[in-house]
Amino acid sequence: MEIIKTQVALRDLVTALKNEGKTVGLVPTMGALHNGHLQLVKRCVKENDVCIVSIFVNPTQFNDKNDLAKYPRTLEADAKMLEENNCYAIFAPEVDEIYDSTELNSTFEFDFNGLDKVMEGKFRPGHFNGVVQIVGKLFELSTPDKAYFGEKDFQQLAIIRHMVATKKYPIEIIGCPIVREESGLALSSRNMLLSANEKDIATNIYKTLKESVGFQQIKNVAETIDWVVAKINNIEGLRVEYFEIVNGNTLQSVKDWNDANYIVGCVTVFCGAVRLIDNIQYK
Ligand code: PAJ
Repeated sequence: MEIIKTQVALRDLVTALKNEGKTVGLVPTMGALHNGHLQLVKRCVKENDVCIVSIFVNPTQFNDKNDLAKYPRTLEADAKMLEENNCYAIFAPEVDEIYDSTELNSTFEFDFNGLDKVMEGKFRPGHFNGVVQIVGKLFELSTPDKAYFGEKDFQQLAIIRHMVATKKYPIEIIGCPIVREESGLALSSRNMLLSANEKDIATNIYKTLKESVGFQQIKNVAETIDWVVAKINNIEGLRVEYFEIVNGNTLQSVKDWNDANYIVGCVTVFCGAVRLIDNIQYK
């Protein structure tokens, strides 16, 4: 398995592979890999001749400098895990290989068609601008046939699909289900930042979401939102930033369970200082 550091080397590798008629799958990540990432990698390995994983802690998507500084970086362990899982190459560039200073000091403009005005977009201004900026660059450099994203970052997946449609990239976007610990806690690189006690407390996020799925018969949408928020906030150490029940395609809030055929509840919770996101499908 090759670890590629430059754009030129990545382009050259992909050109050579395509000339041999090979299909290429891409799994974009920020590293600190866990079993959630690995499920994307396994699927990518299975569905393409070659799987490339990018590992890049993308500074332009962090609206909080402190969050960027403390984001875990574990390249050596990541590489070992990827080699064992038949990844063909890792693209792990330094920041100055990807961005010039103008890009680093300005917001990448993109028309999200409103998808960035809700939930993560509302609470992390500029976050999705940085996400489409880096994913667009990765797509253009590696020209994959398929690219793999997790449903854990539900809004991100919707925005990537929108970007691919508007930019007409010939790339198939594959959404993969959320991988959880046995406790129900969604796997996340940020879980490494939780103490053992916080990790235990954090299991209440999914437990609460799961319990609320049965409410469609007995509570309306507003009552369900209030119940979920109160239940999580009542647990010491947890604080809900937002919980919204949305149309899974448009990400706009629904008022009634009959407003859409695909309804998802998306939550962000602070567990101590660590910001965790999760979601659940209601229908
Ligand atoms: P990162 O948080 O490293 O996640 C990389 C991919 O793994 C994303 O598509 C994410 O949804 C998926 N993933 C993470 N945890 C998961 C879980 N528990 N189950 C299923 N999939 C999971 O998302 C990013 O990086 C970045 O924003 C990126 C797209 C790489 C752009 O910088």
